[in-house]
Amino acid sequence: MIESFEKIKNEALAEINECTDEVMVNNAKSKYLGKKSEFSSLMAGMGQLSNEEKREVGAKSNEVRTVISEALDSKLKSIKDEALNRKLEEDKIDLTLPSKKRHRGTKHPLTMVREEIEDLFVSMGYDVVDGPEVDSDMNCFEMLNLPKSHPARDAQDSFYITEEMLLRPHTSSMQVRSMLENVEKKPFKLICPGKTYRRDDDDATHSHQFSQIEGLVVGENISLSDLKGTLELFAKKMFGKDREIRFRASYFPFTEPSYEVDVSCFSCGQKGCNICKGTGWIEILGCGMVHPNVLRNCGFDPEKYQGFAFGVGIERVAMLKYGVSDIRNFYTNDYRFLNNFDRKEM
Ligand code: DAH
Repeated sequence: MIESFEKIKNEALAEINECTDEVMVNNAKSKYLGKKSEFSSLMAGMGQLSNEEKREVGAKSNEVRTVISEALDSKLKSIKDEALNRKLEEDKIDLTLPSKKRHRGTKHPLTMVREEIEDLFVSMGYDVVDGPEVDSDMNCFEMLNLPKSHPARDAQDSFYITEEMLLRPHTSSMQVRSMLENVEKKPFKLICPGKTYRRDDDDATHSHQFSQIEGLVVGENISLSDLKGTLELFAKKMFGKDREIRFRASYFPFTEPSYEVDVSCFSCGQKGCNICKGTGWIEILGCGMVHPNVLRNCGFDPEKYQGFAFGVGIERVAMLKYGVSDIRNFYTNDYRFLNNFDRKEM
């Protein structure tokens, strides 16, 4: 019997060794240790043995059962481990792979230009103020030396909401509001960026909604040379340090004298190109010395106080600075357009 147990053990160990999956291990288990196994029938025959033999055969059977059980357990464990390792290998995550690119939003080009202008003026001690986009005819025109019958009103086709209220056609309305507010604390200097509206047909260079920055300085002994120096700095900051400006006499009802300011062409070095239309100069803004009537209307004595003002179109600056040929690009939120302005500085 002892040899039979030994034989079972050897056969079982050999077969267990060949097992490659859980099913085979389970089959081997019932084949070698199950109720219908040779092992079980040998055990059943033990009753006929003498006590002496029983002890000997019993010890052998225990040993064989233990060896087979351990072999089955360890085989099962190694099969499971292997399966787990295989799965881990298959599902392996490569931490060194570059991640999917996330699209990071950037500032809108008009915001970038506005902030750049704000930074410049804040560095010169200006306040940045905000004003309402719906304002009165009084603030937009009347107080700015543009009475109801004034022909210059035609140049600013406005959106009227009522007889008296309109969408502001320029940020110059803020000149009136800030002068009235600052009557007590003169002198002052400020800029006012914001949206403006006109009844223009939209095309490549016109939009019914656009944005401006108004500048206003009021104080004693303010002269045209202050205005010129300020705008020269502005032109250099926005279009490059070698830029020059020139003043061309113009007309605005709220300034006297009035000028349009050109900047020397940054594209062709003033040789003449399509950006400066062959002239070497590009028009960038309107400005002038605050008209005595406007000062007076807003409570400032023109004999004592002077001021300069300017108004610049943010879109115009952005179009020149970034070479944008169609103003509508700023408003359509096309990712392909906006993607070109990843905090690019000139
Ligand atoms: N408000 C004018 C416009 O929208 C621009 C302007 C011209 C503003 C002269 C000013 C200025 O402050 O002094 O066309």
